[in-house]
Amino acid sequence: MNIVLLGPPGAGKGTLAALLKNELNVPHISTGDIFRSNIKNGTELGKKVQGILASGGLVPDEVTIEMVRDRLASDDTASGYILDGFPRTIPQAEALSEMAELEAVINFVLSDDEVVKRLSGRRLCPSTGRIYHIVSNPPKQEGIDDETGEPLIQRDDDKPEAIRHRLEVYRAETAPLIGYYKEKGKIIDIDASPSPETVLSSVIAALKA
Ligand code: AP5
Repeated sequence: MNIVLLGPPGAGKGTLAALLKNELNVPHISTGDIFRSNIKNGTELGKKVQGILASGGLVPDEVTIEMVRDRLASDDTASGYILDGFPRTIPQAEALSEMAELEAVINFVLSDDEVVKRLSGRRLCPSTGRIYHIVSNPPKQEGIDDETGEPLIQRDDDKPEAIRHRLEVYRAETAPLIGYYKEKGKIIDIDASPSPETVLSSVIAALKA
């Protein structure tokens, strides 16, 4: 089953994907995670995109599309995948349509106020990318990852200026994909405001239906 997670920054796509991948037994492919891992490892790609991610802009389509094409060619995608953060522009969606047949596009619906609360309180484990929130999903010990014991970090693009810019970019470049996939009959709107477990149940029920 090939699924795309669509929605504003901080709507809970990564959190849901971490739960849903175990239900569907398919890999979670996050373009943001792949870029961040390249930045952490100091690769050429990482050096090229570091400033773009920090400001909340979009990496050029040709770079992103080639990276996804390579990733989807891996053996672990044979039974499907959850794409998180791709496509994000119409040209990316058109490129994806030549690579794969999608079963569904899950569209996370969440207000800007809630997005800002979620992003400003998000903390991450630097090595595993495990996601926390200082209020809704805090670690057992403040500032420390539950499993690795590492100090948690805040993403550069979770600072107020970058959050504002990401929301603008989302509205201009990514929101048009809702109409694009609606026309194709692929969109499933999901209220992203309840708890992650409730969002997971809604997604599973919608996929079964
Ligand atoms: P990316 O990493 O994809 O960022 P994003 O889409 O902005 O999404 P986020 O990861 O910020 O949020 P999320 O929806 O996954 O929310 P999360 O689950 O973490 O991309 C980063 C950058 O990479 C882009 O800005 C761009 O530069 C580049 N990039 C990536 N893909 C690209 C592409 N295709 N083209 C070009 N450039 C690209 O949750 C957020 C917080 O809320 C957490 O603290 C979590 O604990 C909490 N939370 C989650 N769910 C709930 C819930 N149900 N209830 C309460 N709290 C919740």
